[in-house]
Amino acid sequence: MTRFKPMKSIALVGFMGSGKTSVAQRVSDMLNFRYVDADDVVEARAGKSIARIFEEDGEGEFRRMEQIVTTQLAAASELCIATGGGSFVNPNVRASLLSACFVVFLDAPFDVLWQRIAGDPMRPLLRGEGARERMRALYDERRPFYAQAHARVDATRPVESIALDIIERYRVHVGVADSTEG
Ligand code: S3P
Repeated sequence: MTRFKPMKSIALVGFMGSGKTSVAQRVSDMLNFRYVDADDVVEARAGKSIARIFEEDGEGEFRRMEQIVTTQLAAASELCIATGGGSFVNPNVRASLLSACFVVFLDAPFDVLWQRIAGDPMRPLLRGEGARERMRALYDERRPFYAQAHARVDATRPVESIALDIIERYRVHVGVADSTEG
């Protein structure tokens, strides 16, 4: 009798602008997994944008919601999760993602990320004076956490090749040589 065992989810971590959303969409299409963006789930539950949560309720409230949402998503199978850039710093989020999912760090140099995100009005952390210096400090502070992911991929490449790279490593991680065979 063939038993169907649900596949482990994949979680993408990395700094803002590393391409978590577009890569997660591509990976989920390729594997026929469900794509979920943790930020979208937080926004849907709060009934407002992340920018408004920060403004009206503060970053602490956003982090509290982000932890609940991300740990719940970590417990589900066959998802490709685009996590929020700050969530993997939280030890509870990190532990739940690392124990249940295949976690991939989308890595890119700071200057590449800065060029992609600078001036984005939807990112509350970029607001105000000295944004570049603050982002640089956050980037340096977060790298050791991102480095705890199961795999690290170069996120400066086109989405398609990043997605293929992730799938190859996922198969090695879960012990499936080639799911397309036969
Ligand atoms: C944040 C990153 C954002 C979002 C929020 C805070 C961060 O997600 O969760 O604005 O702390 O780096 P993306 O990484 O998807 O931009």
